Amino acid sequence: MSFLARLAGLLGLAAPAPVIPPGAALAATITVPASLGFVPVAVHFDLFGELVRLNRHATAEEVANACNARIRACSTGDPEIAVRLASDTLYIMSGLGLVERVAEDLFAANAITRHMVDMPSAQHGAVHFTTEGMMAGAFMMKKLQATNFAYPFSEADGPIQYAYKLMGEEKLSHEHTYSIMEQQGRMDSFNQFMVGKFIKFGTFPDRVASLGYNLDKALGEPGSLDQNPVMVDIGGGRGELLLEVQAAYPHLQEANLVVQEFNTEIDAGDVPGVRLMEWNYKESPEQPIRGARIYSLQHILHNLPDLNAVALLQKLSRAMTAESRLLIIEYAKNMTYTSLHASMIALYGGRERSPAEWRQLASVSGLEVGFEGYVRAGESLVEMRLKPE
Ligand SMILES: C[S@@+](CC[C@H](N)C(=O)[O-])C[C@H]1O[C@@H](n2cnc3c(N)ncnc32)[C@H](O)[C@@H]1O
Repeated sequence: MSFLARLAGLLGLAAPAPVIPPGAALAATITVPASLGFVPVAVHFDLFGELVRLNRHATAEEVANACNARIRACSTGDPEIAVRLASDTLYIMSGLGLVERVAEDLFAANAITRHMVDMPSAQHGAVHFTTEGMMAGAFMMKKLQATNFAYPFSEADGPIQYAYKLMGEEKLSHEHTYSIMEQQGRMDSFNQFMVGKFIKFGTFPDRVASLGYNLDKALGEPGSLDQNPVMVDIGGGRGELLLEVQAAYPHLQEANLVVQEFNTEIDAGDVPGVRLMEWNYKESPEQPIRGARIYSLQHILHNLPDLNAVALLQKLSRAMTAESRLLIIEYAKNMTYTSLHASMIALYGGRERSPAEWRQLASVSGLEVGFEGYVRAGESLVEMRLKPE
């Protein structure tokens, strides 16, 4: 199925009539990588923001002038953008559909441009996939060839690490992609991406309710609460998920909602309203919070190869009681998310997982799947609980 047909399906539109000759469709998809290389340029110079602020058809020179006036006003001595670079970048962005090309060298914001400006996390995500993601993809084949097609990759020995090895960056070539990003000052941007991602599909309590999941029951009786942790969000970033839970269940207090993170770019000031606890799920042998009602892993396991995912699930199952529930919130392994699957493999040795793969992971971790709800676009939910003895 072509990219356009999948997009039309995702939006609930009829598949477009197959008027594009197969060779042209192939070329349009396959020649995209170099165009994607211009996305960080557009974001760096805030070309999308300039087009939205100009709020009219504008030439590349007008966009570049607006951009450079802003840079000069900051007096930081940052480099300005050449008109030719602005012109090529805007032209290429219109080819990607991110801005509108109204006429030769005349551009305007479209709905995607405005979305990126209204939701800055989407621009951070665009930079992540067009820098780290692109680099990982570009070195996929070289990594496979260098290792006689050994597969799957382990978590800190994939295409990215091989790219750094070829560049003579021996130290980085042994590090996890998150650690590489941290050393390159990229984690703050990544964390901002995580706050809203590309699109928000409603709050966590609303999403799971729409899947038919009974979150009230999983959280337990309000009367029985004290200062103990009720819900623990592992790798919870800046705590958005738990803040959404707190808004829907106001009786839950800061002490009841724990974000566990190892991300040094996040400090307690970033997550007011919930408790931030440092926990490195890879290095620490045991989960320090025992018997919470809910442990959640949102977009965590798709970062991990199977062996590492099992190691984490086993740590959690050892901390769980019969009442505990493990909520795994991920995208489904379906036709909407093939590119994300590729990205997780290339960046972390991770993967999106099918219902059968979830069952396999559960069964070797002392767990069983208690509930599953999959959506075509947006976060799906897999609940695991302790397997009865
Ligand atoms: C893809 S992000 C998901 C963030 C958040 N759960 C969400 O859905 O927005 C992965 C998160 O896992 C955290 N993380 C990665 N490795 C970790 C580790 N070993 N221990 C604890 N947290 C880790 C990262 O800092 C990051 O915040």
